[in-house]
Amino acid sequence: MAAFDTEPLDEQRRYGAIVTGLSPGSIDDPQVRKALLTLWMEKGLVVFRDIAGGIDTQVRLSEIFGEPEVHPMMEGTDIKTEHRALAPIEFDPEKDGNIYEIGGKVLGGYLPWHFDGAYVERINHGGILRPDILPGRGGETGFLDQIAAWDLLPEQLRERIDGLSVVYSYQPDFTRAKFGSQPDRLVKMSELFRTGSAHPSVQVRAIHPAVYEQPGTGRKVLHVSPWFADGIEGMENEAGDALLGEIIEHVLKPELMYFHQWQAGDMVLWDNWRMLHCACGVPPEETRIMRRTTIVGDYGLGRREVIAAA
Ligand SMILES: [Fe+2]
Repeated sequence: MAAFDTEPLDEQRRYGAIVTGLSPGSIDDPQVRKALLTLWMEKGLVVFRDIAGGIDTQVRLSEIFGEPEVHPMMEGTDIKTEHRALAPIEFDPEKDGNIYEIGGKVLGGYLPWHFDGAYVERINHGGILRPDILPGRGGETGFLDQIAAWDLLPEQLRERIDGLSVVYSYQPDFTRAKFGSQPDRLVKMSELFRTGSAHPSVQVRAIHPAVYEQPGTGRKVLHVSPWFADGIEGMENEAGDALLGEIIEHVLKPELMYFHQWQAGDMVLWDNWRMLHCACGVPPEETRIMRRTTIVGDYGLGRREVIAAA
């Protein structure tokens, strides 16, 4: 008997899989580990339903895909969680947090579409997200596969973007994001985001290829993060911005998106080297507490901007 069952995601057949029936006891089985690794590589996004064991299972599962790491923005802070590899993703009306007005709604804990680490040269390989306290309303996490985005990209845009690179910088205020859709208004910025701009790791811009091949499969990834993008390297002008704007408009197509509606007992694993994610936010009176692991890794194609001496 197979150690787990898989089925397609609800409302998204281009990528992703749902895994059911996985017992925490079978996580150490080499064949199960190999099967899960292959599934992650092929599908990009894996939803584990009704999986037992909480934090312990989350950390042990993460170890299949790579070494769990401490999130770079948490280094040097006094943020503590139950396990050193777990980062908190929290919105609690009693505590400090980001609040934005978006489409006439006030939302806490919203995050625009992005891949993690665009503003540094080394991109983590992914993570596993698990809910601790779910809100009564809202709180979905969006995912978007950029292999599927490349597959749907018209030929004339493929030719224009392939071979170019995108320049990124840390931008804590989403209303000032240059690409993608911006919130109407910043209501409140969290201390973590405010102090993030002073973090030593974000003082020099980062550059990543706009298109690259997934190691092991050769499939092309349209590797563009709307949040943090400043422009195209060597084309930070009207023509370059128009091209990047057109690419991002293509990437943010609803047919490429999947919005995960969280249930207790869920864990969601994604591949940060090929997927964007976003947080839809919650009404500001709701509490949403998530725990994530970060899977260490480096795809080896990012670099820092070199500023020529005057
Ligand atoms: Fe993220």
